[in-house]
Amino acid sequence: MSKLSRNDACWCGSGIKYKKCHMDQDERLETLALQGIPIPDRTMIKTEEQIQGIAAACQLSKKILDIVSEKIGPGVRTIDIDQWVYDYTVMHGAYPAPLNYRGYPRSTCTSINEVVCHGIPDETPLLEGDIVNVDVTTILDGYYGDMSRMFLIGDVSPEARHLVKVAWECMHIGIEQVKPFNRIGDIGYSIEQHARRHNYSTVQDFGGHGVGLEFHEDPFVQHFGVRESGMVLVPNMVFTIEPMINQGTHRVKTLADGWTTVTADGKLTAQWEHTVRVTNNGVEILTA
Ligand code: MF3
Ligand code: CO
Ligand code: CO
Repeated sequence: MSKLSRNDACWCGSGIKYKKCHMDQDERLETLALQGIPIPDRTMIKTEEQIQGIAAACQLSKKILDIVSEKIGPGVRTIDIDQWVYDYTVMHGAYPAPLNYRGYPRSTCTSINEVVCHGIPDETPLLEGDIVNVDVTTILDGYYGDMSRMFLIGDVSPEARHLVKVAWECMHIGIEQVKPFNRIGDIGYSIEQHARRHNYSTVQDFGGHGVGLEFHEDPFVQHFGVRESGMVLVPNMVFTIEPMINQGTHRVKTLADGWTTVTADGKLTAQWEHTVRVTNNGVEILTA
């Protein structure tokens, strides 16, 4: 990377002079890098144009989940949900990112009860008392928006409802940590602390991820860990926060289908996911 001069056009494509655009931030990051702190490379910082495209994809994912929430209930099969997601996605000129992603066979993930993530829609009908995560990622005009929610099917036990509520709080507590020059470890730390307060554990084998131009980009966003560790956040990084919160052990196992991941002890798990953008002074939830 050749060093830009103060009066050159900024590398970010804004058309503004470097000194009035990313120069101060680059200098600050360079200082941190010299201290051994991981800093984002420029490919992790999205342009305004990319952000607009990603935001539109995120809004479509949210709309699809709104449709799901209106129709989901006891007796609905997870392939029915998959069909709604597929139909509504293509109707809007978009494509469901999971479909054929690394051999994944469906348009969405439906993870019931002890299924942590990547549950494959099938003939299984949802039953009264189930808790289910529906995870929707759309590709619109080449941009990705990733979001998931939990749904309570009929009358759900107080224990399951509590887990779902705490998982939601964990996601939002993580999101609150997103602001320039905070660290990815601040997100994971705050999430894990909140889970522990309720005697829950956080899954370590899966995490959030950069998203936007690809389905899964750097950085990896841990939902556990140490404050003031990990990569520094800067404006216009876009990534997901999607903590998987378990009633029992944090350990998970993946079934023979190569996708369905369940809690090692068979206890309940819950997950919520938003795609977020770092702003100049905080965070914007693109899937809100
Ligand atoms: N949407 C999931 C995530 O939040 C990834 C699903 S990958 C798939 O990262 F292939 F299972 F769809
Ligand atoms: Co994701
Ligand atoms: Co997702």
